[in-house]
Amino acid sequence: MPRLPAAALLLLLLLLLASAACSAAQEAQQEDYYLRIWPEKPAVKYGDSMVLNCSSNCENIGLETSLQTVAAGTGPAWKAFNLTSVTEWEPKPLCFATCGGTEQKYQRITTTVYRAPERVVLDPLPEVEVGKEYNVTCRVFIVAPIWNLTVTLYQGERRLYVETFEDHRNPEAGNVVVTSNSITAQQNDHGEEVTCRAVLDLRPEGPYLEMASLSKSLETVVFPMDPYLQTLGSVEINTSMPVECEVSGLFPVQKAAFQLFFAGERLNSSNHISGHKVSAQAQVTSISAGEHQLICIVSLGPVTKTAESTVNVYSLPKPTLHIDHPQIPVNTNVTVMCRSDGSKSPGVVMRISDTQEILLSGDGPSLQYSLMAQKEDNGRQFMCKVELKVDGRSVVKETAANLTVFYAPQMSDSSCPDKLTWKDGSEETFICSASGNPPPTVECRKDEVSYNIGIQQQVSKEHGGIYHCNATNAYGFDVRDVIIHIESYQPDILGIIIGVLCAVFISSAVGVAYYMHYRSKIKKYHLRRRQQQQVTGSPMEQKCLNGNV
Ligand SMILES: *[C@@H]1O[C@H](CO)[C@@H](O)[C@H](O)[C@H]1NC(C)=O
Ligand SMILES: *[C@@H]1O[C@H](CO)[C@@H](O)[C@H](O)[C@H]1NC(C)=O
Ligand SMILES: *[C@@H]1O[C@H](CO)[C@@H](O)[C@H](O)[C@H]1NC(C)=O
Ligand SMILES: *[C@@H]1O[C@H](CO)[C@@H](O)[C@H](O)[C@H]1NC(C)=O
Ligand SMILES: *[C@@H]1O[C@H](CO)[C@@H](O)[C@H](O)[C@H]1NC(C)=O
Ligand SMILES: *[C@@H]1O[C@H](CO)[C@@H](O)[C@H](O)[C@H]1NC(C)=O
Ligand SMILES: *[C@@H]1O[C@H](CO)[C@@H](O)[C@H](O)[C@H]1NC(C)=O
Ligand SMILES: *[C@@H]1O[C@H](CO)[C@@H](O)[C@H](O)[C@H]1NC(C)=O
Ligand SMILES: *[C@@H]1O[C@H](CO)[C@@H](O)[C@H](O)[C@H]1NC(C)=O
Repeated sequence: MPRLPAAALLLLLLLLLASAACSAAQEAQQEDYYLRIWPEKPAVKYGDSMVLNCSSNCENIGLETSLQTVAAGTGPAWKAFNLTSVTEWEPKPLCFATCGGTEQKYQRITTTVYRAPERVVLDPLPEVEVGKEYNVTCRVFIVAPIWNLTVTLYQGERRLYVETFEDHRNPEAGNVVVTSNSITAQQNDHGEEVTCRAVLDLRPEGPYLEMASLSKSLETVVFPMDPYLQTLGSVEINTSMPVECEVSGLFPVQKAAFQLFFAGERLNSSNHISGHKVSAQAQVTSISAGEHQLICIVSLGPVTKTAESTVNVYSLPKPTLHIDHPQIPVNTNVTVMCRSDGSKSPGVVMRISDTQEILLSGDGPSLQYSLMAQKEDNGRQFMCKVELKVDGRSVVKETAANLTVFYAPQMSDSSCPDKLTWKDGSEETFICSASGNPPPTVECRKDEVSYNIGIQQQVSKEHGGIYHCNATNAYGFDVRDVIIHIESYQPDILGIIIGVLCAVFISSAVGVAYYMHYRSKIKKYHLRRRQQQQVTGSPMEQKCLNGNV
């Protein structure tokens, strides 16, 4: 191995050391250069001015930006720049300086450019049925930077929903729409205020900006049951019928709106509220027969419910009854004609009847019943009835007419008995009447003298005899003889004689019997008087005697 001289070795070592020290010193000088920007995290309102202070121990401090800048002061180791109007979103100005004559130093900062929300608007709240879900939408207009925005929806003091936008990437001002879905309406939510609050929080470098929308009150409704239509199932044509549509359990009851339709036409209705119940009343009228729909539509906020019912409008005109000869003599032919004019509902039954029975029935538009008028038919009432079954009940219309039959007088044993026996001196009334139409006049004569018919009179012998009675009217006469027999008082001679003889016999028999009895009593009396005289003074004896008598 060749031996190197020690001095050369030492020189080499010194050289190495010197070069190391030299480069270390150079490095140390480089470390001393600095460049700083203040503020470190600037935040500026869009359009406002902003001052950036670049401080450095290097020379030629400058600022590179596309924004307009003016100098805002300078010092030994700093330079301030006024960016007079920041109209860029997220500008990144660059501070630079020349260090050690040749070396360039830079520093770039990111500027937050913000805009306070221009408007915060809450969409109209829907009226919502309790128990149903609804959405609340809030719109925030022209705000930046959106990633520092927080939108909160409140109901009263309660927070309904919060939305943040950390993931938003665009620094430009924009609009945001926040929707809270599926909020379930509660019964006591009615009248609660809903508000939307937008917060732009740029602290600590920037401001804390808050803006709220106008509040809107929440309207909830309760509509649990279907409406109920109260109506008869049928109505006669051209007549009116009341109908009522009723709903219970509504809230708020005043807001219920009714619409009633009949046969496609809107009905005028009036509402009545009682408690949580509302009803609408209307009148239904139709000029056309047939089945018509009655519809009731009730709406309360977003809820609409319907009730439907069919109403049968029937037509049953009153029939006419015509008797061709309403007043005729007996034994002439009469025709009773029943007609029903105009349109009728199907199923009408027509009948001709009198007060006792149905004489004829059919479904025709007319019926005809003929008879030969008898005297019994006088005053007979004929009726023409039309009957229709609607809705399970029967509707009847009828017309009546009377027949008058004229006939000649007729007297009978009962109206004018042909034999009368009266007692002389008693009060009697002579009655003789006749049937006939027009009512006949009856005259009874005896010996060409007219007798007072129907007047009570005291009977005397002169009333006896034969009366010729004649009942007359315009249609003829009827005659009848009435024999009146008068009974006067005539004693019975034989009866009287027998009576007298009997009386004499009985009284004499009684006389004899009395005489015999009297005589025996006298005898006894005498005997007793004698005995009394003998025993006077002896009470004992007297007693005995008394006891024996
Ligand atoms: C800029 O910064 C320097 C150093 O921090 C300071 O001395 C100077 O006052 C500042 N200038 C302005 C205008 O703020
Ligand atoms: C910066 O410029 C604006 C607009 O010219 C001016 O209103 C503002 O006072 C300036 N700011 C400073 C610190 O000079
Ligand atoms: C609420 O919003 C959701 C989603 O956009 C939608 O599907 C739903 O129909 C909305 N609900 C109401 C009541 O508008
Ligand atoms: C603003 O948004 C930025 C970017 O998301 C975030 O770094 C910063 O912390 C936010 N500021 C506040 C006060 O939330
Ligand atoms: C009902 O009234 C209309 C108009 O008043 C009339 O034309 C029609 O004949 C009437 N119908 C009946 C069956 O009475
Ligand atoms: C409803 O009522 C209004 C006013 O009261 C009236 O003018 C109109 O004729 C009515 N309509 C019907 C169909 O009765
Ligand atoms: C009356 O009617 C009957 C039968 O209905 C008939 O036989 C008779 O000839 C009629 N009499 C008259 C006067 O028309
Ligand atoms: C028909 O007679 C009845 C009694 O039978 C009477 O009540 C009614 O008023 C009469 N009708 C006419 C139209 O004369
Ligand atoms: C009964 O009276 C009528 C009318 O006055 C008369 O024509 C008729 O001859 C009378 N009959 C008798 C039997 O008197």
